[in-house]
Parts: sequence; structure tokens; C-alpha cells
Amino acid sequence: MSLTEEIARRRTFAIISHPDAGKTTLTEKLLLFGGAIHIAGAVKSNKIKKTATSDWMEIEKQRGISVATSVMGFNYGDYKINILDTPGHQDFAEDTYRTLTAVDSVIIVVDVAKGVEQQTRKLMEVCRMRNTPVIIFVNKLDREGRDPFEILDELESELKIKVRPLSWPINIGAKFKGVYNIYEHSLDLFTPNKQKVSERVEISSLDDPRIDESVGETDAAKLREDLELIEGVYPEFDEHAYLAGEVAPVFFGSALNTFGVKELLDCFVRIAPSPRPVTTEERMVNPDEEGFSGFVFKIHANMDPNHRSCIAFVKICSGKFERNAGYKHVRSGKVMKFAAPTAFMAQKKSIVDEAYPGDIVGIPDTGNFKIGDTLTSGELLHFKGLPSFSPEMFKYIENTDPMKSKQLEKGIQQLMDEGVAQLFVNQFNGRKLIGTVGQLQFEVIQYRLLHEYGAQCRWEPISLYKACWIESDDAEALAAFKKRKHQFMAVDREGRDVFLADSGYVLTMAQQDFPKIRFHFSSEF
Ligand code: G4P
Repeated sequence: MSLTEEIARRRTFAIISHPDAGKTTLTEKLLLFGGAIHIAGAVKSNKIKKTATSDWMEIEKQRGISVATSVMGFNYGDYKINILDTPGHQDFAEDTYRTLTAVDSVIIVVDVAKGVEQQTRKLMEVCRMRNTPVIIFVNKLDREGRDPFEILDELESELKIKVRPLSWPINIGAKFKGVYNIYEHSLDLFTPNKQKVSERVEISSLDDPRIDESVGETDAAKLREDLELIEGVYPEFDEHAYLAGEVAPVFFGSALNTFGVKELLDCFVRIAPSPRPVTTEERMVNPDEEGFSGFVFKIHANMDPNHRSCIAFVKICSGKFERNAGYKHVRSGKVMKFAAPTAFMAQKKSIVDEAYPGDIVGIPDTGNFKIGDTLTSGELLHFKGLPSFSPEMFKYIENTDPMKSKQLEKGIQQLMDEGVAQLFVNQFNGRKLIGTVGQLQFEVIQYRLLHEYGAQCRWEPISLYKACWIESDDAEALAAFKKRKHQFMAVDREGRDVFLADSGYVLTMAQQDFPKIRFHFSSEF
């Protein structure tokens, strides 16, 4: 197969949702259709249960599971599908944001009873920033929930994207009878079953009496009425608008009962984009270019504390990746050879000889890689779009074992390279400050420093609202700002200026009083 054909058949995407909407269940059902697993229940949920904030076994278990399910590749018909898993717990939101930079499209799962929830809203913002094409799956139709029209309105207003239903439910909850597939003009009847696929009725048109025979006259009449309304209210599905991230097709179903999932998958492989051109600081990189390029979007530390090896996850952006070929690690300028890159197929890791744009390869590493690093056939390229976001929780980190300060230093460095949290140095008192998006990270850092590096630390509280990057074209204005706020100035690991605002009010006032200063809430500007 040619490079162009390999690219055209790849679909690399993530499923995102608020915890409990059904992401794990849907993932599992997609794997079931792809033949990657044979029974339901094979995919472990990678959720950290809410009670687990101090349950270390749970976190370790989670790390193990999430290596196995980080990337799930399988073939479906002519297509090669790569599902990138994202952590369920909101304290790991930053990981999820980064994973979203490595996908070409996204499926959002929404619970029909709960509608759009907080984390879905946040993740959608990230998709919107990158114009990622989005398909929405409204789940749990077998349970009592909200009116589908109401859900569509909520999706539009809360997720700030136009929607277009491509399937439509016939009742919900106990009276749920099935969905009408608008995209393919067929009727799928609901039979609750966790392992099997539902029954399909082929119909010639909406007037086909088989609809009445299958769901009864009353529901058939209601369906016709609903569909008429949909055709009146929502414009025809426009594939280009979907690919531009302007409109999201919506499917209804029940992941647990494997209902509506095949419809979703069949439509997905047809309309979802194959790997798209990627922006670098230097130029646009097209997937079908001959030269290889890829970037590290995730680093996973090994479970074995005695061997501090990691797996760097590289998303291939262009050309063909080959085992043992020498590739340039752009940040260090070194040429590296990878003898044991792994591919992720059907939840198994195996050594891979070649891989194509859209694929993810895992590269065993002993601390050479950092999130955002680029590998190429030789060209100097820097991929964009892997920002760190303003952290919202802060603590000073203090060494409690002076004999182990080197280990602590190294541990902090590597954990920051992995993207676990962000390190700042307060310019006023020279102290190291760790910023995270969730409380859990502090516990993870302390635990891992001890278990993987033999270093001990303690946390000292500091009350801060937000850290934001600042810059200005006016050197004098910048100097004046830094002087006035000298107690609240820090630098990040790249040496860039960061303002530590101790309240929302202080930040707003600073923005008002210093109009020549630009405040950035993500590290990429
Ligand atoms: P998540 O990854 O998005 O967090 O959600 P997950 O798939 O783990 O699903 C959350 C809960 O919702 C699970 O129940 C799951 O069985 C249930 N669920 C998923 N899809 C459907 C559906 O279509 N209908 C119904 N009725 N339930 C659904 P749980 O009790 O939390 O877990 P479990 O013990 O069943 O695994």
C-alpha cells in the first residue's frame, strides 16, 4: 500500500466525556466491533474512584491500566483506527488536553439524563481552539432522560457548536424502542443486550408501513412528526462544516446495550478526517511528505521503580516511521535510533517495524524526551499546539532530606518533563513553586519522588489565584511592572516571566493598570 493509501485509511481520535457518561463502555464496544476484544468487560475503566485521593494502590493501578489502554489500535474494514485514551479524573485534565493535540477528531459522549456537564464543556473549549471535528453520542437512552430536542438545544448553547442529528430515538427509558438512522435511512430496533448487535429493519422511505409494524402507529406518527421538525429546523448535514469543526453530527444510543454504536462507527469512519496537515513554527507539514516527522505528546514513567525508564508516545505527522532508522531529536540535535518502538494494537504492545501518519509509536526512553519534543528525518521543525495552561493550585516544594537533594532535583526535572505539573521559581525569595491543575498531582509527585527517586519533600501552602505568562513590546513598561510586582514575579523552566496573581481582583486590576502588558493564560503565545 502506498503512503497516501495508508494515510487515507487512518482515523486517530479520542473519546471524551464527563466521568460516568459512558466513555469506557463506548470504547469497549468499538473494540468489540473491531474484533480487538471478544467479550464485553475486557476494558478496565481507567477512572480513579472519587475516594481514591490518598489510595496509592489505586493510583499505581491506574498508571498500569492507562499504559495498556493509552492507545488502542484496530482494523475495521479497510480502516485503521487508533483510539487515544484520556484520563477520566479531572485532576489529570492537562494530560487530556495534550492528548487532544495528537488526534484528528473527537467523539463526545453525553449522558441523556445529565446533559452537558462541566468537564465536557472544558474539553470542548480545547477542541474549539484547534477546530477539531466533533461527533456527539448521546448515551443511556435505555434510561429515563431528557427530551432529545431539549438535549440538542443544550448541546448547541453549552458546547457552542451547531448540531445536526443523524439518528433519532423512538422514545426513551422504559419505552425506548430504537433509533431511526437519518444518515442511512434505516430503522434499528432496540433489544437490550450487552454482547450482541441490535436488529435492523431496512425501510424504503419514511412512509414505509414497516415502521408502523415495528414500533406501533402512535410512535411511528411521532417519529414522522419529529423528523419533519428536524428537517425544518436543522440544515442538511454538511460534511465540510463538520470537518471545519463548525457543526457536530449527533447520534443517540446506549453504549452498554451496544445500541446505536455500530451506526456511530460506520458513519465515523466514513466522515471523520484522516491525518491532517500539522503546523510547526517553521511551516505546515503535510502527512504525505516523504520525510518523517512526529512529536512527543505524552510520557509515561515505568511502573518498575528500579528501572527509571519511560515510554514516550510519539504521534507520527508525516512520512513513514521505520525501526532502527536514525531520526533527529530536534531539541538536542542528536540522531537517535530506536531498536524497540512499540505499536499498540488491540490493547497489546508489540515491536513495530514501520508506522504511518496518524499512528502512535511508543519509544522506550531513559529521560531524553520531554513533552513537545520533535523527531524528524533531519529537518529542524518545532510542532506547535502543546501549551501548558495556567495552573490553579500552588505549593512551595521543600527538601526534607538534605542528603538527597540531587535526587530531588533530578526527580523534579523528570516529572516536569513528563508534564505532571509545572515548576516556577519565585524571583523574590528564590523558592521553587509547583503549579498543578488538581490536588491529586501534589500527592502523586510526593509519592513518586519517594518511590522512584528516593527523595523526600514536603509541601508548604501558598495562596495564589493564577500564574500567567506576561510579555510586552515596551521594555520600560515591562520593567515597571516587574518592579511594582517584584514580590509576585517568577520564571518558568524556559526562563519566561510569570506573574503570580494572588486573587482574581488583583489580576483584573493589573490588567487595567498596565495596558501595555499582555497576560497569557497558556504557555503558547
Ligand atoms: P466513563 O468511562 O465515562 O466514566 O463511564 P463508564 O463507561 O465507566 O460508564 C459509567 C456507568 O454508566 C457504568 O456503570 C456503565 O455501566 C453505565 N453505562 C454506560 N453506558 C450505559 C448505557 O447505555 N445505559 C445504562 N443504563 N448505563 C450505562 P457503573 O455502575 O458505574 O459501572 P459498572 O459497575 O457497570 O462497570
